[in-house]
Amino acid sequence: MSESANWIKVAEVGDIEDEEAIVYTHDDKEIAIFFVEDEYFATSNVCTHEVARLSEGYVDGTKIECPLHQGVFCLRSGKALEAPAEQPLDTYPVKVEGGEIFIAV
Ligand code: FES
Repeated sequence: MSESANWIKVAEVGDIEDEEAIVYTHDDKEIAIFFVEDEYFATSNVCTHEVARLSEGYVDGTKIECPLHQGVFCLRSGKALEAPAEQPLDTYPVKVEGGEIFIAV
């Protein structure tokens, strides 16, 4: 990510419970920010299979299982790991500075 990345504050440390997500909407795009094992991950909140919100899915380590048909994605890479999901999720860089969480869009 270049230095000119557009970092946006989305939350403060402590706002996201372990193995939970919050949703941030940017330009009509829903982005889910997950907190797992002391790391933050930001992905598209909408499954690439059909329309379901991954923030309502089941976190299993650094994987997220879609609540609708149980497709599984890697939170780190966005890669689809289990059918029926096939297309990867968009992912976004995340950084924490001064107790605030930022994503690059
Ligand atoms: S909508 Fe997510 S796996 Fe079908």
